[in-house]
Amino acid sequence: MATMMGDEQATARRDALAERLFEAVMGAMDVQSIYLGDQLGLYKTLIAGGSQTAAQLAQRTGTHQRYIREWLEQQAATGILEAEEGAAGDGTDAAEARRFTLSPEHAEVLIDRDSLSSLAGLLRLAVGVSQTLQPVLQAYTTGAGVPYPDFGVDTREGIAEMNRPMFLHLLGQDWLPSIPALHARLQADPPARVLDAGCGTGWSSIAIARAYPNAVVHGFDADEASIATARANAAAADLGDRLTFAVRDASRPGIAGRFDLVTAFETVHDMGRPVAALAWMRDLLNETGVVLVADERVAETFTAPADPIDRLNYGFSALHCLPATIAESDEAATGTVMRPSILRRYATDAGFASVEVAPVEHDFWRFYVLRP
Ligand SMILES: C[S@@+](CC[C@H](N)C(=O)[O-])C[C@H]1O[C@@H](n2cnc3c(N)ncnc32)[C@H](O)[C@@H]1O
Repeated sequence: MATMMGDEQATARRDALAERLFEAVMGAMDVQSIYLGDQLGLYKTLIAGGSQTAAQLAQRTGTHQRYIREWLEQQAATGILEAEEGAAGDGTDAAEARRFTLSPEHAEVLIDRDSLSSLAGLLRLAVGVSQTLQPVLQAYTTGAGVPYPDFGVDTREGIAEMNRPMFLHLLGQDWLPSIPALHARLQADPPARVLDAGCGTGWSSIAIARAYPNAVVHGFDADEASIATARANAAAADLGDRLTFAVRDASRPGIAGRFDLVTAFETVHDMGRPVAALAWMRDLLNETGVVLVADERVAETFTAPADPIDRLNYGFSALHCLPATIAESDEAATGTVMRPSILRRYATDAGFASVEVAPVEHDFWRFYVLRP
């Protein structure tokens, strides 16, 4: 009987994993086919032009009709688009007459880069990290890293697009105002000086400069391509010389002067020498200045199986953040799953007297205020 139960449990366990991974493969196909629709402008054209056939969509996007028909049918089969049968005849068969529609609700999730409900960046990031699997595969045996620039434009822009709506809608409107003394300082005279470390393509710096018209903001990142994009984004945002960007390494930034606020959004875990970087940030604070670190809201301790936040972050860590960080230095090799205790240890080693978790409500990030 016990053996029977054991056999049944073993079968159920095997089948549950097989079923889960089968679903995951279909999910991976969705993610990759969504990438085609996004990059080729297919969703944009569908939402702008309403119901259309494969021939119309191909003609409007400069793509090949046979491929577009397959993509449209796949998208409808997987429930992203809606399909309706058209009138076949006069040399038009059913497949050619079929019309496809994208709902505004699905368009918001797929392509609206301003919406807090958008998954465009996360989806693009998932494709981006899969493009670098071969070098990562080698790194697992050599122990070497894979430099951040090697992860390419889809990883870089995927991260930027994932975080941009939050910065533009929440950073100046919700996150910083929930730390009243800091919010007041950013509004006051003389103009507050803000340093945004590891700013990527600059959306957090732009959001701060927009929300606080007095503040002077300098963003920096070690990645040259990110800073080139940040400069272009800043020029389009038209914020004048209150907002500047430079390529710098956080562990030796070579910055002079004193700052009221140093921010580090989703970047401390990516830094090869996090203690040196935090020590620099500390040295750059003025008498009332603070460092604000926002990093992944992972669990306090390791659990397995883990909740979705830890699962997602372990995924990005194993595929991207850890190899990119090791390429800088294997000194800390933090990985994306930076537990609060690890950040506290780094901050203490960097000379901070206090580390406080700020009362910012956020599903994915935890906010830490570091004081010297
Ligand atoms: C996950 S991205 C976050 C970018 C941006 N802060 C955001 O929230 O969208 C991490 C960033 O850290 C930067 N980074 C990693 N190590 C760095 C270092 N030593 N100095 C400066 N930037 C670094 C990377 O180039 C990358 O842009």
